[in-house]
Amino acid sequence: PTITFTQPDGRADVVTAVEGTSLMRAAVTNGVDGIVGECGGQAMCATCHVYVRPEFAAALPEIGDDEEEMLDCTSAERTARSRLGCQVAVGAGLDGVVVDVPEGQV
Ligand code: FES
Repeated sequence: PTITFTQPDGRADVVTAVEGTSLMRAAVTNGVDGIVGECGGQAMCATCHVYVRPEFAAALPEIGDDEEEMLDCTSAERTARSRLGCQVAVGAGLDGVVVDVPEGQV
């Protein structure tokens, strides 16, 4: 699947990931700015916070308990579009997904 990461200044990175890769891993592997993934994907740091565009909301996995808790610890404001990038695996249903990277993660 391909994933588009949009930066606050409008710059966009389009990356291709192996199916099942998390948004966080895909971003870190491809050097996308603004996604840190400090805890390595364990839903413990919130430095992989992203805003998923609403048109892809229906294809997203449910928010888990750990994710729910960490989403209250994000540096940038939590919104209805907020997810932890490490908890969203990109399957076929999310091909072409567009996510907005927050202003800051720490
Ligand atoms: Fe730490 Fe996602 S990488 S919460």
